[in-house]
Amino acid sequence: MRIIDLDGEDRETVHAAAEPEDQTPASDLLCEAGTILGWIGAIPQVRRPRVQLHPLVVRSDCRHRGIGRAVLADLEDRVRERGGLTIWLGTDDEDYMTSLGGVALFPNVLERLMNIRNLRGHPYEFYRKIGCAITGVLPDANGPGKPDLYMAKSVR
Ligand SMILES: CC(C)(COP(=O)(O)OP(=O)(O)OC[C@H]1O[C@@H](n2cnc3c(N)ncnc32)[C@H](O)[C@@H]1OP(=O)(O)O)[C@@H](O)C(=O)NCCC(=O)NCCS
Repeated sequence: MRIIDLDGEDRETVHAAAEPEDQTPASDLLCEAGTILGWIGAIPQVRRPRVQLHPLVVRSDCRHRGIGRAVLADLEDRVRERGGLTIWLGTDDEDYMTSLGGVALFPNVLERLMNIRNLRGHPYEFYRKIGCAITGVLPDANGPGKPDLYMAKSVR
């Protein structure tokens, strides 16, 4: 397996990996025998030491083999090299996969967040395992009872 740094240049490979509208700069691909196994991207913000992680996807038949962890570790190195301090991301719960889905979060938003439980394999647990902290939640971000969970990782 090898990780390819796309750096927003290799449009053809990006098109092979994703829908055309999903193009983002500073992307990595993980390939094995010419096949794309996963894709990670980071969106920089001008003159700010933070980048937004988006997208991150591993081919469905290749999950739970450490690929997500590997591409994120590589991305962290690249962000650090460029002077970044924090990688942040939003991860939606539109399908009631956590205890924050399908319930009214106001007014005890932080209490609910502190007691979050993973009901059906929501990826927030993956992010926690690779060192991200939950930093917030936006209730009803995608409709009633469909919050967006915010997470971040320091690369200092
Ligand atoms: C989330 C995703 C990127 C994880 O990639 P992956 O290659 O399967 O992750 P890894 O194998 O590196 O897993 C690292 C750890 O997280 C755990 N993990 C992975 N996905 C998990 C999930 N959905 N829920 C709970 N734990 C999970 C693994 O079991 C492993 O734990 P371990 O270190 O104790 O063995 C992948 O499942 C995916 O592409 N999902 C669909 C797209 C998606 O949800 N992207 C995130 C959008 S915010």
